[in-house]
Amino acid sequence: MGSVTLKIGDGTARFKRATVCSSAVNILMMFSVISTNLFALYAFTSSAKYHQNHLFHNTHKNISLISEQVSLILKEIDSSQKELAKMERELLGYETIDISRPNIANELKIFLQRHQLPLGKDSRTAITEMVASVGHSCEKSADLLSQYMTYKVSGPCPDDWSLGQKLILRGCEPLPRRRCFAKSVPKVGLSPFPISLWRPVSEKILTWSGLGCKNFGCLHKNKLSRECVDCFDLASAHENQKFVNAKSKSDFLTDDVLALASGGIRIGFDIGGGSGSFAARMAERNVTVITDTLNIDAPFSEFIAARGLFPLYLSLDHRFPFYDNVFDLIHASSGLDVGAKPEKLEFLMFDIDRILRAGGLFWLDNFCCTDEEKKKTLTRLIERFGYKKLKWVVGEKVDTAAGSGQSEIYLSAVLQKPARV
Ligand SMILES: *[C@@H]1O[C@H](CO)[C@@H](O)[C@H](O)[C@H]1NC(C)=O
Ligand SMILES: *[C@@H]1O[C@H](CO)[C@@H](O)[C@H](O)[C@H]1NC(C)=O
Repeated sequence: MGSVTLKIGDGTARFKRATVCSSAVNILMMFSVISTNLFALYAFTSSAKYHQNHLFHNTHKNISLISEQVSLILKEIDSSQKELAKMERELLGYETIDISRPNIANELKIFLQRHQLPLGKDSRTAITEMVASVGHSCEKSADLLSQYMTYKVSGPCPDDWSLGQKLILRGCEPLPRRRCFAKSVPKVGLSPFPISLWRPVSEKILTWSGLGCKNFGCLHKNKLSRECVDCFDLASAHENQKFVNAKSKSDFLTDDVLALASGGIRIGFDIGGGSGSFAARMAERNVTVITDTLNIDAPFSEFIAARGLFPLYLSLDHRFPFYDNVFDLIHASSGLDVGAKPEKLEFLMFDIDRILRAGGLFWLDNFCCTDEEKKKTLTRLIERFGYKKLKWVVGEKVDTAAGSGQSEIYLSAVLQKPARV
């Protein structure tokens, strides 16, 4: 800087002066630069530090904010899942019975309590306590159930069997009443077997409480169902010609069906069997048939028993209380029609298949299909089981009983269960 000298007259001096002057300026400038830089450096470092601090703080704050948000979301998911499970339980009607509720009958609490085995764990079954259960659908009818379970222990049961049946029809099965004496009706004039099969049953030995009708005449007028047009009148041709004389080609005869099996039919199960005439005809062929029936509008169970036959009081929603592959024959008619949902019929068909032995016969007897579509659905379902069709008859009848005059499709079939491995 100061070392450059230009010798051009006065200019030199001026320049020299300028040099001296510029040195001072330079020093000043240098100072200023350094100080500015120092200031800047200071400012920078301090601001960076401040900034960094700020950033760290923010990030920290943001992370805790995020984790807070995440836990909120998780909580939300958890409560939604609980809500969903609750909705599902409500839809299915599933709730465990809360026996701590105030209006629960004490007898129900005692029945449902677990009882420890007195000698501890049982070595054969490996259980340590006795557990009683009621159907989970009982919860839906908790008030009816409590009413049903309010009785004097060791006393006479209230005469309310129809209340019990109401519970069963709402899926409350099995019923928990155990510790009272059921009303008994003197069974006078029962006939010995096999005369009992077709001897008229006295009205007096049946329970009529809880029923709209109080005698056979009323039942006859009321036309109970397709299977029971006149089924309590054993002298009527309608009842005593069934299975021995065919009225149409969809009516099969017991002897024809038994011949298909070439022997080996010894025990059977009849679903929705009216007053038990199928079991009676089979009993004459030395085949023991259990008749599944509830007492819908009529005293079916007692009537069947009075004929010397075995009534099973069980709704079709219940899994059949039999082990797999035990029956040689299962007979069912329109009683098999359990409603609109195809799954309902599937549940039933699979259970029928389960209790029928390989080689055993499933006799579908005049199943009424309201239309062609229903017949197709049923046919498709049956064919899925791979049974051998020994008989298959589709008929049409004009419904004169209901007076509508509409024709209905009837399906009758005898199917043989295949052996599956
Ligand atoms: C922290 O969140 C705020 C808004 O809440 C946002 O402006 C900022 O950029 C975030 N900082 C970091 C470091 O994520
Ligand atoms: C039923 O069994 C009895 C006694 O064993 C016998 O006498 C009768 O012939 C049998 N009836 C039929 C139809 O097989």
